[in-house]
Amino acid sequence: MSLVHYEIRDGIGVIRLNNPPVNALSTALRRDIQEAFAAAREDASEALLLICDGRTFVAGADISEFDKPPQPPSLPEVIEQIEQSHKPVIASLHGTALGGGLELALACHYRCGLASARVGLPEVKLGLLPGAGGTQRLPRLVGVEKALKIISGGKPIPAVEAEKMGLLDRVFDTGAADLLPRALEYAREIIDRRAGPRRVGELPAPSAGAETFSQFRQQLDKRSRGQLAPQLIVDAVQAATEQPLQRGLETERQLFVQCRESDQSHALRHVFFAEREAARVDGLEGVEPRPVHSVGIIGAGTMGGGIAMCFASAGIPVTLLEMNGEALERGRAAIERNYATAVRRGKLDEVQKERCLAAIRGTTDYGDLAQVDLVIEAVFEDLNVKREVFARLDRTCRPGAILASNTSYQDLDAIAAATARPYDVVGLHFFSPANIMKLLEVVRGKRTADDVLATAMKLAKRIGKMPVLSGVCYGFIGNRMLRRYGSQAQLCLIEGASPEQVDGAMESWGMAMGPIAVGDLAGLDIGYRARQSLDDEQKGDPRSYCIADALVEQGRLGQKSGAGFYRYDAETRSRKPDPLVASLIEEKATEFDVVRRTFTDAEIRERLLLALVNEGAKILEEGIAQRPGDIDVVYIYGYGFPAHRGGPMFYADSRGLRGVYAAICDLQAQYGGDCWEPAPLLRELAESEMTFAGWAEGNRQF
Ligand code: 3HC
Ligand code: NAI
Repeated sequence: MSLVHYEIRDGIGVIRLNNPPVNALSTALRRDIQEAFAAAREDASEALLLICDGRTFVAGADISEFDKPPQPPSLPEVIEQIEQSHKPVIASLHGTALGGGLELALACHYRCGLASARVGLPEVKLGLLPGAGGTQRLPRLVGVEKALKIISGGKPIPAVEAEKMGLLDRVFDTGAADLLPRALEYAREIIDRRAGPRRVGELPAPSAGAETFSQFRQQLDKRSRGQLAPQLIVDAVQAATEQPLQRGLETERQLFVQCRESDQSHALRHVFFAEREAARVDGLEGVEPRPVHSVGIIGAGTMGGGIAMCFASAGIPVTLLEMNGEALERGRAAIERNYATAVRRGKLDEVQKERCLAAIRGTTDYGDLAQVDLVIEAVFEDLNVKREVFARLDRTCRPGAILASNTSYQDLDAIAAATARPYDVVGLHFFSPANIMKLLEVVRGKRTADDVLATAMKLAKRIGKMPVLSGVCYGFIGNRMLRRYGSQAQLCLIEGASPEQVDGAMESWGMAMGPIAVGDLAGLDIGYRARQSLDDEQKGDPRSYCIADALVEQGRLGQKSGAGFYRYDAETRSRKPDPLVASLIEEKATEFDVVRRTFTDAEIRERLLLALVNEGAKILEEGIAQRPGDIDVVYIYGYGFPAHRGGPMFYADSRGLRGVYAAICDLQAQYGGDCWEPAPLLRELAESEMTFAGWAEGNRQF
C-alpha cells in the first residue's frame, strides 16, 4: 500500500504523506513521493500541495536506515525533483518539520503552516549535518548568520518566528482540522496571482565575510568541544557562499557522509534510540497508569524544593510539607529564588512564575496529604526517618495513592516494609538540581505494582524528565557506578596525580566536569556523612576517601565553603589548585605507605572509564538495569558523560569487549580489589566475541 495519497481538489494536486508515527522519510516513503510527483507532473492540476497525515509533518530522514546500505531514490534526488517542478509546489506544515522534513519543505516553492508548528534542522544532535540541501538553501533564504545559528544549534523554532525571517510564507492561527482548507485557499491565491514556482535554490548565493565563519568556529570550539559535526556545518554553509548550488550540494553531501560514518554520529544515533527505549518497561505493555492530578512532597530542602518546581511547572498542584514553619519558609524562599533566576534567564515570564508559585502550597500538617494521588518523600537520608515518614503516610493517604521515595542509597524495600501497602511504593530518584536535571531513576521495589511503575514512567515524561528503570541495590544504577569511578579518581590522587590532572584528563575527553570538581560542587560533606553510617568493609579502601575526609574535617566542604579540593573565587566560582591540598595528599600517601608516581592522562581515563564499564556489566547481569542503553542514558543525563561517546556501555562495545576485558584483567593484576573483579558477563561476552548490545538483543528474543 502506498504511503502517499494523491488527489486533485479544485484544480490543486494534494499529495498526502502518511507514514506513522512521524512521517520519517524511509525508502518506501521517498519512492512513493517520487511516484506521486511524477504522476502529478502531467495531469490537470495547476499547483501541488504537500501535506502530512498524523501528528506531524515530516520529522526527517529515517534514522534507523543510516546503518544500512543506502537505497534509491536518495532524498537529494527526491528534493531535486520537487524543486524542479514546473507547477508551484506548496508545503503545508503542522507539528514539527525537522531535518530532511524541513529540507523537503525548502524544496517546495512556498511554505505555509499552523502557528503551533515548529521547524528546525536538528541533525547536529545526531552528529550529522543536513544532507539534503539544508546548508545550501537555508542561508539563501534567511542569510548566513541565522542559518549558522539554526543549523549548529539544532533547536526547532516556532512557525511565527520562522515567518518573520522569511522561512515560512504564511502562518495560520487555527487548529489542525482547518489546515487543509486554509492551505488550499493559499494555494489558490498563488495560482490566481500567477506567481509560478519560486525556487530557493535559484535565489542569489548568500554572502558573508571570512571573519563571520572564523568567529563562529571559535564559538563552537568552546561550546561543542571535540565534536565534528558543528565544525563541518560551518564548512558546508561557507560553501554556500563560495560555490554555485550544484557544487555546494555536492560539498554538503561529502561532509554529510563524513559525519554519518563518524564514531560520534554512531554514538549519538545510539543515544537517540536508547533514550526512547529507556522509557519503556518490558512486560508493562497495556498496563493502565493511575491518574495523577495532585502531588504531595515531604521535605522542602535541596531536593524537595526542586521536585516541587518540576510539578508546578507542569501545571500539577503540589502540597509541600515540612517539619515546621521556619523550614517551610526557607524552602519557599529557595523556590522563589530559583524561579526568579529562571525569569532572569528568559526561561519563564513573570505571569508563568506567579502561576507556578501559586501551584505550590506549604503545610506542616500531614492531614493535607490525605487526598493527593502521589507523595514524594525527600527528607534526610536516614532509613529510620524515612520509615517513620512512610508509616505516617500509610496512615494518612487515601488507598491507591502512590508513595515514592527520593532516596539515593537506602533500601527501598525496607522503606516499603514500613507500610501495609508495599505495592504502592516506588523510588523516584531525581538528580540535583531537580528542576534542571533531566534524568529520573524510577526504582522498582520487590513488590512495586505494575501500574505504579507505569504511572511513574508516564509521569516522568509529563514533567519533562527522562525516566530509566532501576532495580534496588546500593546507589541504584548511577550512584553505584559513580562510587567506583569516584574511588578510582581518589586513588589516582593518592598514587601521584593532582586534582587538576584528574579533572583535566576527563574534561578533555568530554566529561562535562571532572570527578574531583564534581565532588566539590555536590559538597564533600554529603559523602562524608554517608560514610558515617557504613562499616569499614562497606566503606571500601580507606585510601579512596582519606583525603576527602580530612578536607571535611578541616571545614573544606567544597564550593559552598569556598574551598574543597580546590579554592574557589567568591564571585566567579572559578576553581584554583591549592598547594595545601597537594601537601595533604602527600601526607596521606606517606601515612598509607603509597609510593607516588607520575600518571599519563590516558592512564587516568583508562582507570575511571573501565571502572564504570565493569560495574555497569555487573548491574546488567544482576538485572538492575533492563538494558545497556539504559545505563548509557543514566550516565549521559545524570553524570555529564559526553553524548557523542554514546555512554559507558556503548563506549565499551565500540572498543571491543575482548580488549576491555583484557584491560580490566591487567588492572586487577596490578591493583586487585573488588572494583577490578571482572564482571562474569563481561568475561563471557569477551570470550564469545559479543557486545552488550548484542547480548541485550538476544535476551529480548528469548
Ligand atoms: N527516524 C526514525 N524514527 C524516528 C524518527 C526519525 N527521524 N523520529 C522519530 N522516530 C521514532 C522514534 O524512535 C519513536 O519510535 P518508538 O515509538 O519505536 O520509540 C517514534 O518515532 C516517536 O518518536 P518520539 O517518541 O520521539 O515522539 P515525540 O512525539 O516525543 O517527538 C519528534 C517527535 C519531535 C519528531 C522526535 O521524534 C524527534 O525529534 N525526532 C527526530 C528528528 C530528527 O532528528 N530529524 C533529523 C533526522 S536526520 C536527517 O533528517 C538527515 C537529513 O538531513 C538528510
Ligand atoms: P536536605 O537536608 O536539603 O533537605 C531535607 C529536608 O527534609 C529538610 O528541609 C528537613 O527539614 C526536611 N525533613 C526532615 N525530616 C522531615 C520530616 N520527618 N518531615 C518533613 N520534613 C522533614 O536534603 P536533600 O539534599 O534535599 O536530600 C533529601 C533526599 O534526597 C535524601 O534522601 C537524599 O539522599 C536524596 N537526594 C539528594 C540529592 C542531592 O544531591 N542533594 C540527589 C538525589 C537524591
